[in-house]
Formats: sequence, C-alpha cells, structure tokens
Amino acid sequence: MDNIQIRKFQDEDADVVKELFTLGMSEHVPSSFVHVLKQPLTQMVLMCMFCALVTSSKSFLLPILAVTFCLAGARQMVVYMFNKYIETSLRKDLNNISETYLKGKDSCFWVADSDGRVVGSVACLPAENAPGCLELKRMSVRRSHRGMGIAKALCRTVAEFTRDRGYRAVILQTSVVQTDAQKLYEHMGYKKIREFVVPEFLAKILNFTLFEYRLDLQQD
Ligand SMILES: CC(C)(COP(=O)(O)OP(=O)(O)OC[C@H]1O[C@@H](n2cnc3c(N)ncnc32)[C@H](O)[C@@H]1OP(=O)(O)O)[C@@H](O)C(=O)NCCC(=O)NCCS
Repeated sequence: MDNIQIRKFQDEDADVVKELFTLGMSEHVPSSFVHVLKQPLTQMVLMCMFCALVTSSKSFLLPILAVTFCLAGARQMVVYMFNKYIETSLRKDLNNISETYLKGKDSCFWVADSDGRVVGSVACLPAENAPGCLELKRMSVRRSHRGMGIAKALCRTVAEFTRDRGYRAVILQTSVVQTDAQKLYEHMGYKKIREFVVPEFLAKILNFTLFEYRLDLQQD
C-alpha cells in the first residue's frame, strides 16, 4: 500500500475507471454460470430433457447435443444479464462521473492511484431508499493489485466521508456470486441486512440473489 494514494476522481481517469468496472463485473460470468448449474430447477430441466430424448430417440447423440445447446444458451443468458447491468451502470452514472458524483456535497468518487496508474475505484451517494445513509458503489480493484488492502482503504475512505457528512450508516448491495466482496465487507464490519432475488424475469429464473449490507457508524 506504500505507493498507493486514494484521491478524488479527475476527468482524465474516466476511461480507465470504466474499464476497471467492466472487467470487475465481467469476471463474475463464470461463477454466475456455475450458480445457474447448481440450481435444482436447471438440473431438473436438463435431466428431464435428457431422459425424454434418450427414450424417444433411442440414441445418446441427440440428448447430449441438446444438453450442450441448452448449457451454451444458459451461459449466453448470464453474459447478457451482466452486459445489460454494465450498460445500465455506464448510462446511469459511469459515463458522467463528475456530473453524478462530484457536484453535490454528499457524494464523491475516488480512485486508488499506484504511481500514476488507476488501480481501484469506489463511489458513494445518498441512498435512494434509506434515509440518513450513503450508498457505497462501484468498488473495483485491478486484479494485479488485489490482496494489498486497497479495497479496505477505499471502504475506510467512504466510511470517513459518510461520518463527516453526518450520515448514520453506509449501505451497499452485492450479489451471491461476489464472494470476495462479501468477505471484504464482512471483514470491514458490515452486516448483511437483506437478501432478495433481482426483480427481473431472467434473474428470477436463474435465482440470482442480491445481498444488502449496512455499516452503522458511531458519531463522535
Ligand atoms: C472485492 C475486491 C474489491 C477486493 O479487493 P482487494 O483490494 O483485493 O481487497 P483487500 O486486499 O483490501 O482485502 C480486504 C479483505 O477482503 C477479504 N478478501 C478480499 N479478497 C479475498 C479473497 N480472494 N479471498 C478471501 N478474502 C478476501 C479479506 O478479508 C481481506 O482482508 P485480509 O487480507 O486482511 O484478510 C476485488 O476482489 C474486486 O475488485 N472484485 C471484482 C469487482 C467486485 O466484485 N466488486 C464488488 C462490487 S460490490
């Protein structure tokens, strides 16, 4: 952490921050696909289809091809879900970070800078559905710089900012497949307060669960 500096976002960081976010999200595609395969519904559908095709075609070739085709389709669904989330995030705030995060006094966007190279990011802004709380967003650390405590430093930056602005707590959402993030937040004292399935058709089918975490802050 010696050569890492946490500083406010500047407009020239925009492209690398978007790249960092996109890479950080895309890396969850394989674990999300495994999550889909673990669902009893997926296993039942594949099994029933396999048995029905073996019985009707009296061959193994067609059922194996059909299952392979379904698995490829399921993977594409996961890729589509992540791409859609990335596109929405870019459109909602990441294409215009200064406007979204740096204009108001209760929001901010920081980057972790390692010898002039942006290797991490985090942001916060007033939570829409939780009065008195700021929401932590856009936490991501470049793979080559993981395990060095950068995310912990970014979490502390958000907590200090939140306390200084007189807010009671930091809240955030992460997903069932973001296990490193869950460990990070629990390590930093966050408590899981809610679990819910993403209210979208595809996510419901895939049982894609989100976790909401909260860190209560002691005011001085
Ligand atoms: C989650 C993420 C930000 C962690 O970044 P990081 O800089 O490697 O995290 P740190 O080095 O600060 O580690 C902080 C703590 O998190 C936990 N942790 C982080 N990665 C872990 C891992 N791979 N295995 C176990 N624990 C882990 C540990 O408790 C660790 O503390 P410790 O080293 O004292 O045990 C990073 O993995 C990432 O960018 N992931 C992809 C994007 C993402 O999922 N973002 C979260 C959005 S909600």
